[in-house]
Amino acid sequence: MEAPLDIIRAVRQQMGSELVILTHHYQRPDVVSCGDFLGDSFVLAREAARSKARVIVFCGVHFMGEAARILARPDQEVYMPDPGAGCPMADMADSDDVAVALERLADLAPGRRIVPVAYINSSAATKAIVGRAGGLCCTSSNARAAVVEALRLGDLVLFLPDEFLGTNTAHLLGQPVVPVYDPHAAANSPAGACGGLRKADIDGARVIVWKGYCHVHTWFSPDMVTAVRSKHPGCRVVVHPECRPEVVALADGSGSTAWLVDEVLRAGPGSTTVIGTEINLIQRLARELPDRTILPLASSLCPNMYRTTSTRLARLLQGFPAQNRLSVDPSVAADARLALDRMLALA
Ligand code: 13P
Ligand code: SF4
Repeated sequence: MEAPLDIIRAVRQQMGSELVILTHHYQRPDVVSCGDFLGDSFVLAREAARSKARVIVFCGVHFMGEAARILARPDQEVYMPDPGAGCPMADMADSDDVAVALERLADLAPGRRIVPVAYINSSAATKAIVGRAGGLCCTSSNARAAVVEALRLGDLVLFLPDEFLGTNTAHLLGQPVVPVYDPHAAANSPAGACGGLRKADIDGARVIVWKGYCHVHTWFSPDMVTAVRSKHPGCRVVVHPECRPEVVALADGSGSTAWLVDEVLRAGPGSTTVIGTEINLIQRLARELPDRTILPLASSLCPNMYRTTSTRLARLLQGFPAQNRLSVDPSVAADARLALDRMLALA
């Protein structure tokens, strides 16, 4: 039986510029080695929007492939080696719940225009609700710019689905009060309240965050930062902004996966960098840069990213089966695209 990497190499050679393979920083090393572009969610979404290839293969999780499908031209085909690789955080903001939240919050904040900001880690249906409401998408690399833009467009931002990226971003913008909207409390809210919030809770706020999280990043604790600093004096600790605010506050900096990679490159030979994010990115950097010390804050793996293997990628490239092809309902895609395009237009 031919080895997966040989199959992938042969198909890439045969298809040439007709095929582009996009890989996220959390992918397994053998999958990363097969990609044309490696990046964070923003870089890969932008690449999908720019690509001229007839076939785009996305090695990441479903919301990333779906965003690529929405941004690509209709005559391009978008595939994933495992379309079942989801993101639990994206599933935490159901589109119907988001529509209800926008309606109820409008009642709770009369006279204030609410502009939703959807983290790219959300479904196409949720992005469509946000696009229709005049809102925009963001990734971890432009969340700050997106919230600034939303505040320019309106008075109050509903940031979803990540409570912690939303809260960390609001803190960066000098907003200390960040109420949390809990979609599970929405159904049982008494009159004059919604999602566990009352009018008084949101009166002084500019940003409301949705109660959602990424288990890969909420695993990191302030104690872990303290422990690593005493074990490696002088180390630099950098984390992804999906971490809890208490962890971000103790770290030396936070940013997207691409920013974390850049930080390690900037730190230079002989440096020690401790990173709070998914383990595959950290292990790959440590292997590629043996002249510096690169350590995980703790080992935390995204099981969904891990579902994409070189064997699955090879199987996809051998026949491009219909079940691996992504499609989004055209009316949903059109509204979701509004939100994605507003993000791509950010400076
Ligand atoms: P980035 O946009 O920073 O790559 O993050 C994506 C993600 O899913 C982090 O958990
Ligand atoms: Fe989703 Fe977290 Fe995995 Fe990122 S690391 S894809 S947010 S589950």
